[in-house]
Amino acid sequence: MDLFEKESSYFFHTYKRLHLDIERGEGCYLYARDGKRYLDLFGGLAVNALGYSNPRVIAAIEKQIRRYMHLSNYYVQDPQVGLAERLISVSGFQRLFFSNSGTEAVEGAIKLARKWGTPQGKTWIYSLSNSFHGRTMGALSLTDRPHYREGYAPFLPDTGHIGFNDVAALRATVNAQTLAVILEFIQGEGGINVVSQEFADALVDLRKKFGFLIIADEIQAGIGRTGKFFGFEHYGLRPDIIVFAKAIGGGLPLGGLLGNERVAETFGPGAHGTTFGGNPVACAAGIATFDEIVSGGLMKNAGAIGAYMKDQVAALQKDFPAIVKEFRGYGCMMGIDLHRPGQPIVDELQNRGILVNCTSNTVIRLLPPLTITTEHCDLLIRELRNIFGGLQ
Ligand SMILES: Cc1ncc(COP(=O)(O)O)c(C=O)c1O
Repeated sequence: MDLFEKESSYFFHTYKRLHLDIERGEGCYLYARDGKRYLDLFGGLAVNALGYSNPRVIAAIEKQIRRYMHLSNYYVQDPQVGLAERLISVSGFQRLFFSNSGTEAVEGAIKLARKWGTPQGKTWIYSLSNSFHGRTMGALSLTDRPHYREGYAPFLPDTGHIGFNDVAALRATVNAQTLAVILEFIQGEGGINVVSQEFADALVDLRKKFGFLIIADEIQAGIGRTGKFFGFEHYGLRPDIIVFAKAIGGGLPLGGLLGNERVAETFGPGAHGTTFGGNPVACAAGIATFDEIVSGGLMKNAGAIGAYMKDQVAALQKDFPAIVKEFRGYGCMMGIDLHRPGQPIVDELQNRGILVNCTSNTVIRLLPPLTITTEHCDLLIRELRNIFGGLQ
């Protein structure tokens, strides 16, 4: 059996894998074992914010594995504290908890919200239609992707969905029993859908009236990807809980949640915990990643790339109005929505040495490293132009 046959034989068939045998990665590129080079424009699904093999991240990992790889959360660990200090400082929030993944961060946020709100008679948590918050039973109860939910009922009680950007539905739904509203301000998996300012303003108004918590899911959009450290910063509001993961571990498994002053005293000893969460090697990689992004000018680059691509895709749409519907997103979190299924385009780009992702059937999703240049963008646009030209 070759590698792909073995994979198909040994694993549950939960992933639709690409037929690529990757040997190594460097910068924005992946190199297959057959020697072919690919420009990777979806970077480990928003994990690889610095691209591959960043020397600063590698050095931080090498240094930490020689000190200790794991202690347990009985110990105060300086890599955890160093990363926490940076995240507290950049967010202005009060408290933090480290998990291993995004979905665990969401679980932690659900628990934090419940412990905070249940004594006040607040039990209902709402998410938005088309949302993705993870696949454990709590997170899946908030995820609104029918394909991912199918077969897993019953879900967590007192959870529900509100129409995306539907201000009337929001007003009609939330009340004094509302515990929290969780949302991705820029939906990733759902097809790069951007929350409207009107919806965000209504949410803040209603929080004032009913006292619920706003939970920002920054797992995909956070850590500088949209040109600001957190996606919600585009809206001039402050959530109560932030969940983050993906890029923060520099390629190692790490996530977490931040809580503001309203929830700062909610968790006490034993209220929540994890064996591996906040692994010191992942935190050391996280410190290096954070410093590269924040001090290295990468958020500015991400913002500039998003603006550049918006113009390029507008030109593409002018030339191919029957194919290109819309460009959406901020910074290095972009979607090109098509009037047709995106997967054949994604496959053809792969043949031409460019890796992108298709989500929500018609959306070509781009999650490139924040180190990407306009030359890389031009390469993608040129190939899209060639492919679209052949389709017309
Ligand atoms: C917005 C959002 N929330 C939650 C998750 C779940 O994170 P993880 O896959 O690390 O568990 C993801 C993963 O794609 C995500 O994009």
